[in-house]
Amino acid sequence: GDIRYFDEVDSTNDVAKKMGSSSDEGTVVIAEMQDSGRGRKGGHWMSPRGGVWMSVILKPNVVPAYAPRFTLMAGVAVAKAIRGLGVEASLKWPNDVLIGDKKVCGILTEMDAECDQINFVIIGIGINVNVLIEELSEDLRSSSTSLSEIKGEELDRIAFVQALLRALEDEYIRSKTSGFDSILEEWRSLSSTIGRDVDVVTPQRIIRGKAVGITENGTLLVETAEGLEEIVAGSCIHG
Ligand code: BTN
Repeated sequence: GDIRYFDEVDSTNDVAKKMGSSSDEGTVVIAEMQDSGRGRKGGHWMSPRGGVWMSVILKPNVVPAYAPRFTLMAGVAVAKAIRGLGVEASLKWPNDVLIGDKKVCGILTEMDAECDQINFVIIGIGINVNVLIEELSEDLRSSSTSLSEIKGEELDRIAFVQALLRALEDEYIRSKTSGFDSILEEWRSLSSTIGRDVDVVTPQRIIRGKAVGITENGTLLVETAEGLEEIVAGSCIHG
């Protein structure tokens, strides 16, 4: 597909959303910086120069309920691309990529759907590649890292994006040919959430227990004192 490159945008997800219907599957929107990068739960995503801020348009023939699968799939691709650099990346439910216990990447999947049919999916991926952690806001600094901070040198972002897009395409093709189970299996093995004691903060309550699995709908299974809970959405704190 096409790669649409911008110096500065509000949000690559918003640009991709506008282009979605008229673009081919596989179109990529990428920008050097975002003025209004968006994160989960309506949050702001700091996107200074040096990072990789991109959105990929996919047109899968599945029902909207499958949208969380694309977040998991993208997480697997990002973790593999980072591991390809010799850096131990892991996945934290539902959509963070960590190095150690610090976040290096966030994923925001959005979709355009009607009548139970997906028109297109936008997978927004933000990776702190050559980002100076000092440039992030104070509240993020202690919980964030970048690939350049870990490696002690700047990385070749073009080579990294190529490896990432290749990994994403591999996973996408695999999800179609071998089914989503094989991706789920890989997500579990790359995950630092599964097997951990967690607190999951949901709008209603905090669920404390041991994360024991993830379902094909992307929900987290937590073993609590009261029994097994299936959690659809929330923020996960690793114990
Ligand atoms: C999160 O809160 O962890 C998700 C962050 C997602 C950030 C990426 S950067 C590229 C794309 N465009 C956006 O506005 N957000 C996503």
